[in-house]
Amino acid sequence: MQTLRRFLQNFWPQKSIALDFVGYEVLLDFIKARSLHRLEGDLIEIGCFMGGGTVKLARFARKHGKRVFAVDIFDPAADATTTSDGTRMCDIYLAFLEGRSQLKVYEEAVGGLDNVVTIRQDSKTVSFPASQKFVFGFIDGNHQPDYVRNDFSIIWSNLVPGGVLGFHDYNTELPEVTDCIDAIIATHTEEITETQEIKPQHIILLVKRQRAGKP
Ligand SMILES: C[S@@+](CC[C@H](N)C(=O)[O-])C[C@H]1O[C@@H](n2cnc3c(N)ncnc32)[C@H](O)[C@@H]1O
Repeated sequence: MQTLRRFLQNFWPQKSIALDFVGYEVLLDFIKARSLHRLEGDLIEIGCFMGGGTVKLARFARKHGKRVFAVDIFDPAADATTTSDGTRMCDIYLAFLEGRSQLKVYEEAVGGLDNVVTIRQDSKTVSFPASQKFVFGFIDGNHQPDYVRNDFSIIWSNLVPGGVLGFHDYNTELPEVTDCIDAIIATHTEEITETQEIKPQHIILLVKRQRAGKP
């Protein structure tokens, strides 16, 4: 239960405002530093919870004429993955919501942002046409390895060269997620020009190679 206690201590004071668990500011810093907004394509987030991070991505994307595709099942009980100390992810989400509807909290947060495209689906049922390009994607949905792999595939195939894909929960209390991400990186090493770990936020970012064989 240490994990649940840590989450509650860190985030409880902010729970009345649109909350994000990750600290999306570091993602936006990376997006800006790499000028991803100059590339052609939209942004995508798999796992948006209360929409706090979605709002931050969408405000940035709006300035550059881009959309944010926000994929979430909006069922806080859907992910029963346990952390190394036995805390279930769904129990963390339910504790935060205190009986509120996840979808309602999310809709209130993103209200007024007309560049958010909300996809209320299990991510295993989501796909995009090849014409839908992404410059940035972030994966923080279901923490089962088969979902992590699925969510990677959804984004990677449509990520433009030079685009960036990030995973949350790298090198933290979900060792199966870390192992899965390491295996994905090993399999796709030829297509990745750089990886960057942001340790305080448990994020790893993969930069897609410009062209096969070129840095
Ligand atoms: C850790 S939360 C996302 C937190 C968010 N990135 C933030 O920082 O505020 C994980 C989210 O994944 C969603 N989720 C769980 N299983 C899912 C599935 N099969 N498909 C899509 N979303 C799912 C949950 O509803 C939850 O909102």
